[in-house]
Amino acid sequence: MEKKALESLRRVPEHVGIIMDGNGRWAQKRGLVRTQGHLEGLKAAKRIVKAASDQGVKYLTLYAFSTENWKRTEEEVGFIMGLVKQYLRAEFDFSKKNKIRVRHAGDFSGLPADIQKEIADSVKDTADFSGMQVILAINYGGRDEIVRALCKFISANKEKEDISEKDISAYLDNPDVPDPDLIIRSAGEYRTSNFLLWESAYSEIFISDKLWPDWDKDDLEEAITDFQKRDRRYGGLS
Ligand code: FPP
Repeated sequence: MEKKALESLRRVPEHVGIIMDGNGRWAQKRGLVRTQGHLEGLKAAKRIVKAASDQGVKYLTLYAFSTENWKRTEEEVGFIMGLVKQYLRAEFDFSKKNKIRVRHAGDFSGLPADIQKEIADSVKDTADFSGMQVILAINYGGRDEIVRALCKFISANKEKEDISEKDISAYLDNPDVPDPDLIIRSAGEYRTSNFLLWESAYSEIFISDKLWPDWDKDDLEEAITDFQKRDRRYGGLS
């Protein structure tokens, strides 16, 4: 069925966030090094970007590197950063064809200069694309984002003493992006790991046992179908 017809029949989540977990376990199960799992994880991320765009998702946030991931070995950190670079460089033609706009969430200033440049170039080169927005959460932590938002708010509003939820939302990394409707976590752990803490207050959560490198479009479809059965009450009554 055509994308438009599908959308009118079903309610597609506008914003999907994904905690792409299980790359290391995927590699370990096969007797491979962890970095091989990340390489396959990148391939899965590409499949899911295409599938989400085809499904009519408007915003897709991918948790690629957390503020805590610096604790991993230098080799693993370097490898993941290399993959980010590779993704941003190699995907421009795909982004152009599918009108995908690339954005970033996280502490930009804490990233190595070459990664900053690569992200800034992709953000700039895709800024006018009107299709799905892919938000790469790199050096991202939910607590860190809230602290940075507060610091920005305070330095811009020195006189203001009462702070509202709206004030904080306005200083998050991507204030124009709606809160995620659906958060997906692969590889079976039941935790949010500092992902979109503020924004996920009313998100529906879908946890799958499948390891991230094994994910394909059918898994995304399953998560979306499950989401469509949820009764979202936002603390009220149905
Ligand atoms: C979690 O699995 C995965 C990461 C910390 C890295 C995710 C990065 C990628 C998929 C590549 C970059 C992606 C893009 C879109 C640029 P884990 O290593 O914690 O797995 P484990 O819990 O099984 O050890």
